[in-house]
Amino acid sequence: MKEIILQKFAEVFGDTEGVDTYFAPGRVNLIGEHTDYNGGHVFPCALTIGTYAAARKRNDKKLRFYSMNFEQLGVIESSIENIKPEKEADWTNYPKGMIWAFMEKGYEIPCGMDLLLNGNIPNGSGLSSSASVEVLTGYILREFFGLKQVTNTDLALIGQFSENKFNGVNCGIMDQFAIAMGKKDNAIFLDTADLSFEYAPIKLEGAKMVISCSNKKRGLGDSKYNERRSECETALAELQKVVDIKGLGDLTEEAFEEHKSAIRDDVRIRRARHAVYENQRTIKAVEALKNNDVTLFGKLMNDSHVSLRDDYEVTGIELDTLVEEAWKVDGVIGSRMTGAGFGGCTVSIVKDEAIDNFIAKVGPAYEQKIGYAADFYVVEVGDGPKNL
Ligand code: GLA
Repeated sequence: MKEIILQKFAEVFGDTEGVDTYFAPGRVNLIGEHTDYNGGHVFPCALTIGTYAAARKRNDKKLRFYSMNFEQLGVIESSIENIKPEKEADWTNYPKGMIWAFMEKGYEIPCGMDLLLNGNIPNGSGLSSSASVEVLTGYILREFFGLKQVTNTDLALIGQFSENKFNGVNCGIMDQFAIAMGKKDNAIFLDTADLSFEYAPIKLEGAKMVISCSNKKRGLGDSKYNERRSECETALAELQKVVDIKGLGDLTEEAFEEHKSAIRDDVRIRRARHAVYENQRTIKAVEALKNNDVTLFGKLMNDSHVSLRDDYEVTGIELDTLVEEAWKVDGVIGSRMTGAGFGGCTVSIVKDEAIDNFIAKVGPAYEQKIGYAADFYVVEVGDGPKNL
């Protein structure tokens, strides 16, 4: 990949003098969905697929960006002066947003850059290609300008800040954190209430993670993501009148059942119920994994999907079909939607010997029902951002 991006860089930007190459992963969340803006737990991991970059500093203020994934767009130019989101800037609003966020946080960005990207995360799949670009850009800025005081946690926080404030999506911290803090063969058990975390080895005992991509494109901005977030905020404010909590993640299932009548609307009760129960499920799932109980882990994944489907209503026919067909296949330990939902991917834990049959069964059943094909990826857990 390094050779491919360097060669393309030379073609697009003239030569490769002063160019360095970098990588940041994509992520998949194993369990703990729509909990990260509710002060709950998440359990994501970085993947070995991700975004590759070749980049160099410029001696003026220009930004020149090129993506091998969107070659038809050619070189998209802007400047570090008067940096703002623009529709015609397309995907470059992500690296631009990160540069803007660094400046907002008080870091000096003295010059522009030439940046070429090539990603192998399926675009719009819910495997966080945008957070990957954000963390990657932040990593490059840190390298370029010697910003040693910026930790990987800072890269995640600045990435989330740029997504929230520059790109207008009120996402939580999970994606950027999973990418910035990724560790090979480990998932990250993160408490989003205080960002404390621990690594948990992914020991699947003769099984692998299979991602099924629905090919229903999804952008967080045009989804109901922000709506779900505000429903939870309203429910929290209602609960806070009767119980002293900072987030829905502070409630046990029992405490929620005791106080839920404070929420004055049935839909909001279901949204909050998902947030509370999903958080508790995530804690139980990590415990199960530590005890080598992959079967229980899989069952909790399945329960997570049902809750996202019925209470949180973020699945849709595409994701439900992928999961329901997966559940029918022998050797599937667990299967659920992953990420924001409304399209994107599912993640399944499938026994090694069942993977071929899984794809052979789920693929055609999906295509027959939905009218177009899904894609399948057997993925591995990888490290965070790095120089190539
Ligand atoms: C998206 C957001 C995350 C998280 C998930 C749902 O991926 O970027 O912050 O909220 O959805 O769990």
